[in-house]
Amino acid sequence: MRISVIGCGYLGAVHASAMAELGHDVVGIDVDERKIADLSAARPPFFEPGLPEILRSATDSGRLRFSTDIADAADADVHFIAVGTPQAHGRDAADLTFVDAAFEALIPHLREGSLVVGKSTVPVGTAARLADRLAEAAPHASLAWNPEFLREGYAVKDTIEPDRLVYGVADERAAFVLDDVYRTAITAGTPRVVTDYATSELVKVAANAFLATKISFINAMAEIAEVTGADVTQLADALGHDARIGRRFLNAGVGFGGGCLPKDIRAFTARAEELGLAESVAFLREVDAINLRRRQRVVDLAHELLGGTVNRRRIAVLGVTFKPESDDVRDSPALDVAVQLKGLGAHVVATDPEGIENARLRHPQLDYVDDTTEALRGAELVVLVTEWREYRNLDPAATAALVDAPVLIDGRNVLDAAAWRAAGWRYHGLGRP
Ligand code: UDX
Repeated sequence: MRISVIGCGYLGAVHASAMAELGHDVVGIDVDERKIADLSAARPPFFEPGLPEILRSATDSGRLRFSTDIADAADADVHFIAVGTPQAHGRDAADLTFVDAAFEALIPHLREGSLVVGKSTVPVGTAARLADRLAEAAPHASLAWNPEFLREGYAVKDTIEPDRLVYGVADERAAFVLDDVYRTAITAGTPRVVTDYATSELVKVAANAFLATKISFINAMAEIAEVTGADVTQLADALGHDARIGRRFLNAGVGFGGGCLPKDIRAFTARAEELGLAESVAFLREVDAINLRRRQRVVDLAHELLGGTVNRRRIAVLGVTFKPESDDVRDSPALDVAVQLKGLGAHVVATDPEGIENARLRHPQLDYVDDTTEALRGAELVVLVTEWREYRNLDPAATAALVDAPVLIDGRNVLDAAAWRAAGWRYHGLGRP
C-alpha cells in the first residue's frame, strides 16, 4: 500500500520506518527541515534501539522517503497523522495546534477513497470533530482513529509486533483498510478491537492513566513504608504474585516522566472537566501529586544525608533521561531532581549514556560529563535516578574508591542494598528501610 506519515517525531519516524519494514511504500512528512534531512540520510534524530537498522534498510530499498512538502503525500491511500499533542503552555489541556494544522494541510491532497488515520493521543471528541470537518471539506475521504501504544526503547518491536490493535471507525471499510495495512504485523493471536471514535481515543488515555495510577499507587505505599520501616520492593513482589495485580509497573522510585504519562493524565483531567466530569477523574490529580512528591523526596533526602545543606556540595547524578534506552528528557524526574539540587546551590555533575545533548538544551546550567567515572570522582553524594544497565552494574567497591563519601540514593531501587552496604556505603532506597 502507499502510505504517508505526517509528523516524524518519536512516534512518526518509528511508524514510517515500521510501515516500510512491513512492505509498504511510505513517505514521511515533517515541517522540520533538519529532521527530514537526517531521516533521508537514514540518521534517526533521536535514540531508539533498532530504528537505525530498519530506517537504513527501508531508505536503501527505496520503500521509504521523507519530505517537507505535504503535497508529496498526495499519492497515498492511507495517511497517518502522528504529530505531537504536547501539554498546552500554562494549562493542563493538550495542545491540538499540530493535529489541526496537519489535518488542514492534508485536506487539499486527499484522493478519492483515501483514509486519514489519527495516531496522535487526543482528547476524546477530537476524531468526531475532524470527521465532521472531513465530511464538509473532503467527503470523498474518510477518517479512522488508531491509537499507538508504543513504549520508547521498545518502539520498533511494539509497532511491528503490536500487543493489540484498536480501530476507531465510522464504517466497516476503514477497518478492512487498516487490516491491509497491518496484515503482516497481525499474527493469529493479535487482539483487534474495532470500535467507535470515542472509545478508541479513550483506550489510549485510559491505558496511560491506569499505568500512571499503578506507579503512583506503589509510590504511595513507598511513602507509608518509609515511615513504618517496611520495604516497598518486597511489598511489590508479594503483591505481584497475585495474578490479578501483576508485578509490572509496581517499581517504586522517583516516579514517572516522559512525553506521555504526565501530560496524558493532565490532558485527560482537563478534558473531563470540560465535559462536566471532573469528579470521575479527580483521582488523577492525586496520581500526579504523589508522582511529583517523589522527586521532592529525593531532594529532601539529599539534604538530610548531607547534614542539612546541599550548598556547594558535589553531587553525582546518574541519569537524566526519563527512563533507560531513551534519550528523551521530557518531564524527566531525573533531570528535575538535578535541576532542583542545582537550584539549592549544589555542585551537580550529571551524566547519562544518551541524554546529555537533550538535557543541555533544556538546562545548560548543569555540569554534564560523558564518563560515569568522571561524574563519580570526588562526589559527596551519588544519586541514581535513571536505571541504565551501566549504573545497575556498577561495582560497589570500585565506585567507593572514586567518591569522596560513599553515600548513595538509589532513586529506582535497582541496586543490591546488602552488597553496597557491605562495601561501606550508606545506601538509601526509596520506600526501603
Ligand atoms: C508510555 C506507555 O507505556 C505506552 O504504552 C504509551 O504508548 C506511551 O507512554 P513510555 O512513556 O515510553 O510509554 O514509558 P514507560 O515505559 O511506560 O515508562 C513511563 C515512566 O514510568 C518512566 O519514567 C518510568 O521510569 C516510570 N515507571 C515505569 C516507574 O516509575 N515505575 C514502573 O514500575 C514503571
